[in-house]
Amino acid sequence: MLWILCLVFCGLLAGTRADPGALLRLGMDIMNQEVQSAMEESHILEKMAAEASRPQPGGKAIKGLSNMKVKDVLVPVITLDFIPGVGIFQCVSTGMTITGKSFTGGNMEIIVVLNITATNRILQDEETSIPMFRSEGCEVILVSVKTNLPNNKAINKFLDSTLRKVLPGLMCPAIDAVLVYVNKKWTKLTDPMTVGQMGTVKYALTSSPATTASHILVDFSPVVQVQKGVAIQLAADGAIPEFPEGPAKGSQLLLSATFLTAELALLQKPLEVNIKDRRVGKLAQTTGTLAGFIPEVAKAYPKPKPLLTKVRISKPPKVTMKPGKSLMHLHGSLEMFAARKHHKHPKSLFVLEAHFSLEIHYSVCENRLQMATSLDSLLNLSQESSSIGDFNEKKLTSFVTDYLQKAFVPVVNDVLHVGLPLPDLLAINYNLAELDIVENALVLDLKLE
Ligand SMILES: *[C@@H]1O[C@H](CO)[C@@H](O)[C@H](O)[C@H]1NC(C)=O
Ligand SMILES: *[C@@H]1O[C@H](CO)[C@@H](O)[C@H](O)[C@H]1NC(C)=O
Repeated sequence: MLWILCLVFCGLLAGTRADPGALLRLGMDIMNQEVQSAMEESHILEKMAAEASRPQPGGKAIKGLSNMKVKDVLVPVITLDFIPGVGIFQCVSTGMTITGKSFTGGNMEIIVVLNITATNRILQDEETSIPMFRSEGCEVILVSVKTNLPNNKAINKFLDSTLRKVLPGLMCPAIDAVLVYVNKKWTKLTDPMTVGQMGTVKYALTSSPATTASHILVDFSPVVQVQKGVAIQLAADGAIPEFPEGPAKGSQLLLSATFLTAELALLQKPLEVNIKDRRVGKLAQTTGTLAGFIPEVAKAYPKPKPLLTKVRISKPPKVTMKPGKSLMHLHGSLEMFAARKHHKHPKSLFVLEAHFSLEIHYSVCENRLQMATSLDSLLNLSQESSSIGDFNEKKLTSFVTDYLQKAFVPVVNDVLHVGLPLPDLLAINYNLAELDIVENALVLDLKLE
């Protein structure tokens, strides 16, 4: 008994303690669209009708009827409902006309209206760990049966019981066949997706998807991996982000700040650049310009020389989020050099340690999360070393701020342009999503086309 309790509670605890990665909430809007399109793609009811009309080996489909044909299959109306803890209840309402020769030799027509119902349980495939639906308990409910035969109680009863026996075998495979199409749209979910040349992201599942009264919840523990290298651990800093409270909306995707931080770690290296721009904004990049801020440069370089800058990033970028605002924190160094003639190595003037933050503006393009940044603030500037003697680095604050915004932020934006992959399932189009920055997470409100 105790161990059963432990299974339940320990499972719950493990669930809440899992790395905060990404969460997907699938509402009825998406599920309806998926089942509807699977139904259309599979042409399933037409196929079933054709199947029913074929001569049945080893006997007739309906006893007492010969030359049986099925025609005029009604466009199915599908109704879905979430069953908490299980999956989706599916009801397909349709109808058809069955024609044939009756046992009395006359032409007969039966018009049936029926509901096919089943429970589509959501599970995780044992081999692939990919979510899948499996239908259970399929039933055919006759809504009405009309015939051109004389209204005879015995005939009606006969038809009713015969149809009840025959129709499930004919119609229930249709439900399974439709699920094959729905399940196909999950198969790429856990494939690794590239982030430029730098690495991959794989949306692995934390656990089997859970069904609530309004959603199917998919909890991801994404694996971020350096190209041909190790996985980057998601920092477990305790804060578990949640969907914003409010009336249960449609479908949403939540990406935690910790997950985005892990993804940006892939882009740390490309952020290290040597900048040789002649001008940055209005300022010519020469020792003369620098001398305007720190007189020590003028003493060392009476004649202006072109400047070069080496930017190094010492820690992986860190993403933070407060409602409405997201920042990227960068720690690194700026080393400035004076160019020298005759192919000599440029001379290092000084190294500044800098901590600065960029504001991140999110959007979605081609199903990838895009980020564009602008300088938020220079948070700390300190002198690491200098070949021109000690100077007051505070005097360089405005110069460095301007430099970061105009020369370095374009580099960052260029690197970020690769975009970050989003979970690939159910042919979800993220491009129309509305984005919202909440505490420690970015939330995408998914919109259907
Ligand atoms: C058949 O399905 C429709 C649509 O879900 C429902 O309104 C109707 O009550 C069902 N009829 C029977 C007899 O179950
Ligand atoms: C600024 O950075 C320097 C060197 O990295 C560090 O010693 C100092 O504590 C920092 N100051 C603040 C206010 O963070």
